[in-house]
Amino acid sequence: MKIKACLFDLDGVVVDTAKYHYLAWKKIADDLGFDFSELDNERLKGVSRMESLDILLEIGKIKVDLRTKEELADTKNSLYVSYIQKMTPEEILPGVIRFLDELRANGILIALGSASKNAMTILDKIDIVQKFDVVIDGNKVSKAKPDPEVFLKGAIELGVEPHECLVFEDAQAGIDAARNGGMYIIGIGKPENLTNADYIIPGFATMNLDQLRSWYS
Ligand code: BG6
Ligand code: MG
Repeated sequence: MKIKACLFDLDGVVVDTAKYHYLAWKKIADDLGFDFSELDNERLKGVSRMESLDILLEIGKIKVDLRTKEELADTKNSLYVSYIQKMTPEEILPGVIRFLDELRANGILIALGSASKNAMTILDKIDIVQKFDVVIDGNKVSKAKPDPEVFLKGAIELGVEPHECLVFEDAQAGIDAARNGGMYIIGIGKPENLTNADYIIPGFATMNLDQLRSWYS
């Protein structure tokens, strides 16, 4: 098989944290006096915290100075952190642990590549840190997806070439990041929402190494 390493996004791939991001951003929108729907929230998937705030303010047609933006981002993050503190291993999405264990048992390297600065908190709460050989999160990169930095750093730390890597991503920005980095990509979600992946799967419930071998041999 061409694939020597698998790199996983966190939010929307390993766990469904979009609901917590949504609740926190919705509180900010409520306080500022405008509606923020779950459909609007789709635009924030895979996007960094400050870029998410820019999109939120654009939806609310609100302009604020830099200091206020930093305060709003801090308030959102405090709320989000209070939600993820309560996460448990039961929130790991179906099939993820089985698939990670199958990869490791077969010598495939595993990395996390997340835009989130809270990734380590989540990994600790759901007790999954030990399943990853390398963790690259939002604290280790300076350029947000669709820049490939997060995945390229993962490949370097794992000691593999980009063309030996397969990325699992639920957000278009992440699929574009993997593509920009010269990696293979499997999208997680619905084909109508994601373009430019090699394949799209609904999740890991039916994913296994035989399937990967048949797609990437
Ligand atoms: C991504 C999420 O994984 O992380 C985005 O999909 C989020 O919605 C981004 O904005 C940054 O997260 P955090 O935890 O650093 O605010
Ligand atoms: Mg994601």
